[in-house]
Amino acid sequence: MSTPLLKTLEALKKENRISFHTPGHKKGNAFEIFGDGGIQGNLYQYDTTEVFGTDQLQDPSGVLEKSRQWTADIFQGSQAYYLVNGSSAGVLAMILSQTRPGEEILLPRDVHQSVIHALILGDLTPRFIPPEIDPLYKIPKGTTLEKVQWGLEKHPNCKGVLLTHPNYYGRGSQLQEIRDLTKARGKILWVDQAHGAHLGLHSDLPQSGVEAGADLTVMSFHKTLPAMTQSAVLFAGGDLVDRDRLQEQLNIHQSSSPSYILMASIEQAAALYRQEGRERMKALLEGMDRLEKKFQNLKLFQLDRAPGKDRTKIWIHTENSGLSGEEVETWIRDKQGIDLELSLPQGVLALASIGNREKDLEKLYLAFEELEKTLYNKGKMENSVKHTPGKPPTESFYRETEKKLPIREAFYRTKERVSINKSLHRRAGSAVTPYPPGIPLILPGEIITRGHIDKLVELRDKKTKVNGLKEGKILVVTEE
Ligand SMILES: Cc1ncc(COP(=O)(O)O)c(C=O)c1O
Repeated sequence: MSTPLLKTLEALKKENRISFHTPGHKKGNAFEIFGDGGIQGNLYQYDTTEVFGTDQLQDPSGVLEKSRQWTADIFQGSQAYYLVNGSSAGVLAMILSQTRPGEEILLPRDVHQSVIHALILGDLTPRFIPPEIDPLYKIPKGTTLEKVQWGLEKHPNCKGVLLTHPNYYGRGSQLQEIRDLTKARGKILWVDQAHGAHLGLHSDLPQSGVEAGADLTVMSFHKTLPAMTQSAVLFAGGDLVDRDRLQEQLNIHQSSSPSYILMASIEQAAALYRQEGRERMKALLEGMDRLEKKFQNLKLFQLDRAPGKDRTKIWIHTENSGLSGEEVETWIRDKQGIDLELSLPQGVLALASIGNREKDLEKLYLAFEELEKTLYNKGKMENSVKHTPGKPPTESFYRETEKKLPIREAFYRTKERVSINKSLHRRAGSAVTPYPPGIPLILPGEIITRGHIDKLVELRDKKTKVNGLKEGKILVVTEE
């Protein structure tokens, strides 16, 4: 019997690496309080479908209705919609249900692909807020009130504003102020809080969209709470939200056979959140204080400590070590048995959750201390050329968003790959995203300018990672 996937999972289990990765339950460690009860002890018995007594997700009126109202109360939302296809389904449903084809929405450029998919499916016109990049860490910052004010003045017809809060690196937006503005202007506020289901657990964390009164807030429970992969919740509040259209869209984007394991996993995470969440988060943040202090001893690795950020997202800048983030991640995994969440040329991201223990944080620090010692012992620091990926594009590049083709039309047109130099004035067929900072430089339908080409050539020569370039070629719309 071959079962290649099962064998891989079995091997991973044996390796038993420490997880600074999603899912937030950290290999079930967070579930210990449930003993052998709960989902983990009853996987197959609990894997039911919509039978007598289990209600229907598309039109809940029984136990699912009760369960989601219970979860909504814990998170202080008006309604909670269970998602079994991650926040991706929630993002699609929350945007498409509150817009009509051709309408405009205001959003930062560093949105998740599901937002771009919503723009394509809904034939929406994006109005982008120019992103700001932290010059020290080369990661995108959150969205400021000033930028949203600017955007709404320039594009007063926008139906609403979408924020990614917090972003992947833990940077939040000026949520409450932006909420007050959108409310005053009668605009919808969508909060993509895929990375922040845990925010309500401590006042030092950025504010949650639900707490700020956002109209729609989507949270991947599986990323930062102890829940199974794909389980997520969409919270609705306020009077602007059309609930009927929301349910219709959810029915389009979710399976008609929703997993009761995933839905029970949401409930189990909510139970843990309520019972022990605050206490565990307090302990985690105290552990973070100690970790941050220790990292100050290191010369080659710096932690991002921007005020007000979500400190459970540990961004470690690696450029001073002469190694790329990818090289650091490999070393930490292979030599120290620790899984990190993400590596980019300029750094690595470790995700801590209430499923991690103090000893995990301790091991994380010791691993970096060991790497620093190894680098000094090898004399690597003296001999190596420092790893410096190309400079991230500045704000001015992202202003060049003049478009000849709507994003939906560009998506459905015939496309071809051409070399970067031959792409001048062509219309892009897909997104082109350099890392750092991970913000799309060009999106489908946008005109490729001389500035884009010069930047891409510079990044290519510096061997900077650019998603959307294949063998140095770029996808463009075929002119008919
Ligand atoms: C900002 C953001 N939004 C939405 C999603 C989609 O979440 P999910 O993986 O739960 O579908 C992601 C996934 O990484 C994300 O980073």
